[in-house]
Amino acid sequence: MARLVLHERNGPYVIKVGNEEVYLCGCGLSANKPYCDDSHEKTLDEKDGVYFYDSNYKRVKMDNFYSNE
Ligand code: FES
Repeated sequence: MARLVLHERNGPYVIKVGNEEVYLCGCGLSANKPYCDDSHEKTLDEKDGVYFYDSNYKRVKMDNFYSNE
């Protein structure tokens, strides 16, 4: 079974746990979920549209496959 999950953030969620800040992955690419591992940096040059990333972080633009409308 396969499932596509849409992530619209290009950076982590920052939460406070006691006196520490914890960075939770918001981009969906971290290999250390739920924590951010800086993989979101691969998304920073994304333009408008929808992208698919394979397990090697190869990116494919998928505008014709998925629509929010
Ligand atoms: S937000 Fe996903 S790796 Fe940083």
